[in-house]
Amino acid sequence: MACLPIAPPALALRRWLGHGLFVLLCLSLGYALEKKVVKSKLGEKVGLPCCHEIPSSESLHNYRVYWQTNTTEVVLAYAEGKEISKHKRYENRTEMDSRNFTLWISPVEILDNGPYQCVVQHKSSQNSFVLCDETVTLFVTADFSKPNITADVSTYSCESTEMVVSCSSHGGFPKPKISGTLNNVSVVWNISWVSESSFSPYNITGELRLNVTKDVSITCSVEYNGFAKSTSLLLKKTNNCIVPTVPPSYNVITASSIIIIIFLLAITLAARYLPRRVCSHCCKTQDSVEEGVKECTKTPLSSKVTSETSSV
Ligand SMILES: *[C@@H]1O[C@H](CO)[C@@H](O)[C@H](O)[C@H]1NC(C)=O
Ligand SMILES: *[C@@H]1O[C@H](CO)[C@@H](O)[C@H](O)[C@H]1NC(C)=O
Ligand SMILES: *[C@@H]1O[C@H](CO)[C@@H](O)[C@H](O)[C@H]1NC(C)=O
Ligand SMILES: *[C@@H]1O[C@H](CO)[C@@H](O)[C@H](O)[C@H]1NC(C)=O
Ligand SMILES: *[C@@H]1O[C@H](CO)[C@@H](O)[C@H](O)[C@H]1NC(C)=O
Ligand SMILES: *[C@@H]1O[C@H](CO)[C@@H](O)[C@H](O)[C@H]1NC(C)=O
Ligand SMILES: *[C@@H]1O[C@H](CO)[C@@H](O)[C@H](O)[C@H]1NC(C)=O
Ligand SMILES: *[C@@H]1O[C@H](CO)[C@@H](O)[C@H](O)[C@H]1NC(C)=O
Repeated sequence: MACLPIAPPALALRRWLGHGLFVLLCLSLGYALEKKVVKSKLGEKVGLPCCHEIPSSESLHNYRVYWQTNTTEVVLAYAEGKEISKHKRYENRTEMDSRNFTLWISPVEILDNGPYQCVVQHKSSQNSFVLCDETVTLFVTADFSKPNITADVSTYSCESTEMVVSCSSHGGFPKPKISGTLNNVSVVWNISWVSESSFSPYNITGELRLNVTKDVSITCSVEYNGFAKSTSLLLKKTNNCIVPTVPPSYNVITASSIIIIIFLLAITLAARYLPRRVCSHCCKTQDSVEEGVKECTKTPLSSKVTSETSSV
């Protein structure tokens, strides 16, 4: 719309229309004023709105519609109700709504990022004129994977454990940042990125060297385009300085096993001597008094013996 005031007179315009491809006049001015942004995720279907809707009394035949990107490349163009031009890179991925001229792109690619212009011309009986034009900026993003934190112990001593902590995430766009905290205090990661090109998904890895003197909680956040994905990990101080505390527990085990052995010995000794004492006692009673026999019947074995002896 911003371009209309400096649009050329109808005569010159008609010459351009014959040319087929519409060259936009005031590109930079248009960009500066139009700030429509459409966001989409890689692989999804996205619709870029145009600036006109055909009234039900009319048909597409009365219009010329140009969808162009990167200032001069025509993505899709329609004239007399037919597709008159299409871009190789957008082949089979575009569709235009025949009533409101919305440009549908599916699946959307990272390379599709950028400004798009929709230009609508109306063909009346006399001449053609630009009805409207619109610039929409497409912003394609891709989600990063949940960060993966790994920690490798490089060296350790009694006082500290030196660790190499790395945090990685992949397959996202645009280029991300990594931030993080160590027990709620922010830390700076040594970051490296990998990407096939500046229009390809990124893999990111952050590295951190730490001296862990006590258990700490570490958080890693991958930030891109206002989104953030984070993961936390508890780093345990691993060292062998707890070893001096191990012997006491060893002593406890030996002490308790000695007690158990003594206890078992006592039981076996008791088991060996106690019945004999009873038996000798009952033999004595059996010999002397009849009442002693009744006492002996408490133990079945000895009662059997006494009954035998009594019958004899
Ligand atoms: C255009 O039409 C399509 C389908 O009828 C609809 O989904 C879309 O929201 C419309 N866009 C505008 C800008 O009106
Ligand atoms: C846009 O045009 C510039 C210059 O003509 C070119 O370098 C760039 O690759 C183009 N971008 C896309 C996405 O086609
Ligand atoms: C587009 O679709 C047609 C028909 O399905 C197919 O022959 C052609 O190879 C496709 N082009 C691309 C670039 O995928
Ligand atoms: C995290 O990274 C380690 C080492 O590279 C790998 O073995 C593990 O499968 C990864 N975990 C996830 C959830 O990607
Ligand atoms: C971390 O610090 C922030 C502010 O510095 C505070 O609001 C938050 O409660 C803290 N979290 C923990 C777990 O200490
Ligand atoms: C960051 O990592 C690179 C490569 O792994 C290394 O050369 C560089 O010294 C590191 N920087 C810091 C500050 O640790
Ligand atoms: C990014 O990481 C993914 C998964 O780990 C891997 O398949 C891909 O090759 C990596 N991309 C680059 C450019 O290194
Ligand atoms: C960790 O501590 C050891 C000795 O206590 C020291 O030699 C080393 O440089 C420290 N490393 C870092 C990353 O602070």
